[in-house]
Amino acid sequence: MNRATPITAIYPGSFDPLTRGHEDIARRSLRIADRLLVAVAYTATHVKKGLFSVEERLELITEVFRDEPRVEAVSFQGLLVDFARQRDAHVVIRGLRAVSDFEYELQMAQMNQKLWDEIETVFLVPEGEYSFLSSSLVREVASLNGDVGPFVSPPVLAAVNRKFSSR
Ligand code: PNS
Repeated sequence: MNRATPITAIYPGSFDPLTRGHEDIARRSLRIADRLLVAVAYTATHVKKGLFSVEERLELITEVFRDEPRVEAVSFQGLLVDFARQRDAHVVIRGLRAVSDFEYELQMAQMNQKLWDEIETVFLVPEGEYSFLSSSLVREVASLNGDVGPFVSPPVLAAVNRKFSSR
């Protein structure tokens, strides 16, 4: 990679579902990357436990970033670094909401670095109002009939509401 090369970054996660906090991090990352792959990690365990299928998560990510041609929704199986190498992406984006995120994130970043020396993890901080937000809390609140409207974008809200009304 040299400085003339456009920077492709990967923002990996479960995104079950994408929250406004994820969206904030993704949009911020476009200030330092030319293209962003929002990458849904696809493993048997992730899918089994999920509220949304991988395909549904990809559709929602695509819908939320319809206004942003530099964002692509993708899924991957296996190691993140293998996928990153395939896509010639040398930057991983992760959000840091609070100190409690740090230990796990540091471990992942260092492991990824060991697995592929050409990967750099960049931590971005979300807007303060999103620092308490997580997909698991959104799922829990929605499952108990709480309003998750403030925490997710309209297409995600509609999908979450459909999921719970059909149960
Ligand atoms: O949103 P999450 O669940 O915190 O995301 C975690 C994720 C998907 C980024 C992480 O589990 C991951 O990278 N999984 C892919 C498999 C892999 O590469 N594992 C080694 C990471 S050190």
